[in-house]
Amino acid sequence: MTKHSRAKYQPTGKLQFGIFFQGVNSGTIWKAAESGSQTDFESFRRIAQTAERGLFAAFFLGEGLRLREHLGRPHELDVAGRPDAQTMLAALAAVTSNIGLVATQNTTYNDPADLAHRLSSLDLLSGGRAAWNIVTTDNAWTGANFRRGGYLDHADRYTHAEAFVETAKRIWDSHDADAGTWRRVVHQGQHYSVDVTPRLPRSDQYRPVLFQAGDSPDGRDFAARQADVIFSAHPKFDDALEFRRDIVERTLKAGRGANDVKIMPASEFILAATPQEARDKKAWVRSLQIGPQQAIAYLEQFWGRELSEYDPDGPLPEIDPVVEETSETRGSGFHGAKARQLADQWRAEAKEKGLTIRQFVSAKTSRVDATFNGSYAEVADRLADYARTGAVDGFNISPWLIPTGLDDIVNHLVPALQERGVYPTEYAGSTLRENLGLTTPERPEADFAGVSAAPSEARA
Ligand SMILES: Cc1cc2nc3c(=O)[nH]c(=O)nc-3n(C[C@H](O)[C@H](O)[C@H](O)COP(=O)(O)O)c2cc1C
Repeated sequence: MTKHSRAKYQPTGKLQFGIFFQGVNSGTIWKAAESGSQTDFESFRRIAQTAERGLFAAFFLGEGLRLREHLGRPHELDVAGRPDAQTMLAALAAVTSNIGLVATQNTTYNDPADLAHRLSSLDLLSGGRAAWNIVTTDNAWTGANFRRGGYLDHADRYTHAEAFVETAKRIWDSHDADAGTWRRVVHQGQHYSVDVTPRLPRSDQYRPVLFQAGDSPDGRDFAARQADVIFSAHPKFDDALEFRRDIVERTLKAGRGANDVKIMPASEFILAATPQEARDKKAWVRSLQIGPQQAIAYLEQFWGRELSEYDPDGPLPEIDPVVEETSETRGSGFHGAKARQLADQWRAEAKEKGLTIRQFVSAKTSRVDATFNGSYAEVADRLADYARTGAVDGFNISPWLIPTGLDDIVNHLVPALQERGVYPTEYAGSTLRENLGLTTPERPEADFAGVSAAPSEARA
């Protein structure tokens, strides 16, 4: 590409799908008759193989290093039990052949040399299909799980993350394939020091693909500098276009090409043969996603107190949130003053719309923006617009049912997209990098022998 074309974003006109297997949320229905287990390998195998039949680019696993709690007990919206991502993906590598295997791993509690080695192992084992979804983790209580108690300020988490990723890249770059040798990687930084001679050769895709999930301005700049793909929280059409514009601007500022960072937002699909059937199905799905206990638990997070005596099919509690004791279930630093304001606002909203607790919570948690609901043909038409305008490069789909929740997408939506020319009809290659249309990184000529503080730490 010429310099000029690298500066202008060009839609590829194609979409890719990923499947995001969520272990912790209220979006997956674990209690329906057809539901599988959230820990059995069979659930993972079945859905990964279905995704591969539908030519999905990637299979994602999230990460939560501590079970969420509120009011001193496990959070009702969660299910307990989430197998380690890299272990699970290694097992999936053996029963799949093309789909990418994406492990969410945080930079705040890992060490770069160790994580780089484990990701290289997955990359080699899978024939160049591994990826790392880089997160910094947004909650203090996870830090309590770790010996170093290492929760960092927001800005510091990204400084640390960047030094971490740059060190990991140097480790992956250290292999001289022609000479069959490795160069020593030394890093002395603010948060950790590394002195390592890597042990693994490069994979068929050079190194693991880098995804990023984190939406703050710091997070977006970090992605613009470091990531191949952003797992975004912006699936709604206008919002997606604006997010693309923002990321292209940041990417160019970081000295990269306008098309260098792909975007795949989180999404949910509730589909059927006709529009009416799809609407009915959505109502049914929602009624299963938020049960009475979950509705109460959801409000308890913001009220910071027991609300179990309230009727889930009655109005929102008149009682006020406990200001000092607002739960940090979501780890978002949500504070009491805000909680009272929010409770007033929610009560007014529920009253105006005539909603019960359960209906209100269902509407609040339904990820309205992220849901594509309609007939296969309707939704395929909508997605074709995303492809043609370049609003996104694909969607990371959270199935509401495991393990059969991708069946109708693969059987009906994928063929409808293929007919519209916006979805692949075969895998482009055997590596994730090839299937996502990413270029292979070039090995830098840097001097690896010297001690370096990563540039991001120098910036801070
Ligand atoms: C779509 C999406 C998915 C995420 N998945 C995870 C996850 O599985 N585990 C995790 O610890 N954090 C996850 N995060 C949060 C990241 O930890 C991120 O670091 C956090 O949002 C704080 O960064 P920010 O302030 O830039 O948004 C996710 C974020 C987004 C937007």
